[in-house]
Amino acid sequence: MAIFSSLLSCYILLNLFFFFLLIEKKFLVSARELAEEHHVIDVKSLLPSSFCSMPDKSMSSSRLNVVHRHGQCSSRARQDKPSHVELLRQDQARVDYIHFQAANATTRLNPFGGSLFAGVPVSLGKALRTSNYIIIIGFGTPTKSFSVAFDTGTDITWTQCVPCSNCYTQKDPFYDPTQSSTFTDISCNSEYCIDLKKFGCSSTSTCLYHQEYDDNSYSNGSFIQDTLTFSSDTIHNFRFGCGHNNSGLFGQTDGLLGLGRGDVSIISQTSQLYGKIFSYCLPSETNTIGYLELGSSVPDVKYTPMLTNPSLPTFYFLKLIAISVAGARLALSPTIFSGPGTMLDSGTVISRLPPTAYSALRDAFKQYMTKYPMAPPLSILDTCYNITNYETVYVPSIALIFDDEVTATLDFSGIVYTSRKSRMCLAFAKNDDDSEVVIIGNVQQRRFNIVYDVGNLRIGFGANGCS
Ligand SMILES: *[C@@H]1O[C@H](CO)[C@@H](O)[C@H](O)[C@H]1NC(C)=O
Ligand SMILES: *[C@@H]1O[C@H](CO)[C@@H](O)[C@H](O)[C@H]1NC(C)=O
Ligand SMILES: *[C@@H]1O[C@H](CO)[C@@H](O)[C@H](O)[C@H]1NC(C)=O
Ligand SMILES: *[C@@H]1O[C@H](CO)[C@@H](O)[C@H](O)[C@H]1NC(C)=O
Repeated sequence: MAIFSSLLSCYILLNLFFFFLLIEKKFLVSARELAEEHHVIDVKSLLPSSFCSMPDKSMSSSRLNVVHRHGQCSSRARQDKPSHVELLRQDQARVDYIHFQAANATTRLNPFGGSLFAGVPVSLGKALRTSNYIIIIGFGTPTKSFSVAFDTGTDITWTQCVPCSNCYTQKDPFYDPTQSSTFTDISCNSEYCIDLKKFGCSSTSTCLYHQEYDDNSYSNGSFIQDTLTFSSDTIHNFRFGCGHNNSGLFGQTDGLLGLGRGDVSIISQTSQLYGKIFSYCLPSETNTIGYLELGSSVPDVKYTPMLTNPSLPTFYFLKLIAISVAGARLALSPTIFSGPGTMLDSGTVISRLPPTAYSALRDAFKQYMTKYPMAPPLSILDTCYNITNYETVYVPSIALIFDDEVTATLDFSGIVYTSRKSRMCLAFAKNDDDSEVVIIGNVQQRRFNIVYDVGNLRIGFGANGCS
């Protein structure tokens, strides 16, 4: 009898189990269908969390953790966090500078009547400062750790260097070439020095570099070679700037890693080792970490062609063809994007769209947000809502559609920018006119696997790239 009743209860439990399994499956399906139209956001998740969750899973030998400069996982999180308005002002300075370079290059090239001098104006010009994403790399033998920002809009890598004639405060001890057994000078007659395009010669004929950035920041010093440790990989004779005279708002990072397309970038220098492929996932400010990996491409990504713009040779361009809001494409001609060209930039924060495209996007977004009270603009972000009274909010899904029908459906952290509960803004801004270069900024890139396959001239997007 006892056996029978326990068998019976087993049977009931089993049935209950399958019943719940069914319910759960049904729920999952409807949640997924819903996700195509809009995101349901827990408002708490929009605001910075107070802890950092680092994964402890082992990484590949050429993969590094990436943290947001102002996120909880950065040791620099609190000391130097600028206000949202200041951050967006710096972002606008970068964008103005990109547009200035593009326009200036065109007017300067025309007199020569050809593409022979393509790219020269920019390599002679200033580069772009600011990048919000940080990695830890090693220089020298024995190796020492340095926390640097990385930027797809910069070619040269540099770190502050002893003897400092002028260095800003950083957390780690300065790199000291005399303490490294693998350090060597580069002669100013060497092709490596000439690769810099703008270089100097010291009294002992060693190569000098001088890198200026958009807001009068600069790094100036010797261009040298030493061992670079990237995760557990060793890159011998890596060429980088040993900055004796550095000034600017580098946010207490120890320097910059250049992921651009030029000859001096780490991507070009390591082409034998990694085949000019790199990938990253940029985490959102409020949570966890991402990665930066050299070499091996990531599975489950869809590729769109990588394009080149001779006016901006450091940058990675691609072809944006459409934008969809809640599954419906905005009624826009693809030439609105292909006319000025579209770049993918890890250093710009907020994406910049042609005014015509921005208006269409904003209007469609607003239609889905009518139940929320509007709030005043936040700097360049003009479509904001006060969600103080809500625990969850519904925002329409937004997708960027690239050539070859590669659809990148944005993470919700790529749709809205939340400074506080009383101000959640659409995270896009507009260019001054439809002829200015379109920029896909790092907010919209959040949580994708993005693969830059420079050898095969293609850029890949995959979902859920960060842990
Ligand atoms: C823009 O062009 C002017 C002269 O035409 C030149 O002096 C200046 O350096 C250029 N700026 C950049 C960033 O190329
Ligand atoms: C550092 O470089 C700047 C800009 O080139 C220069 O004006 C300044 O004199 C240099 N400072 C030192 C201490 O060498
Ligand atoms: C770079 O800094 C040195 C001193 O560290 C200074 O003598 C030199 O003029 C600077 N060069 C440039 C181009 O600013
Ligand atoms: C946001 O909405 C709340 C609740 O309605 C209100 O108390 C608060 O004043 C609003 N804040 C702003 C900045 O408008």
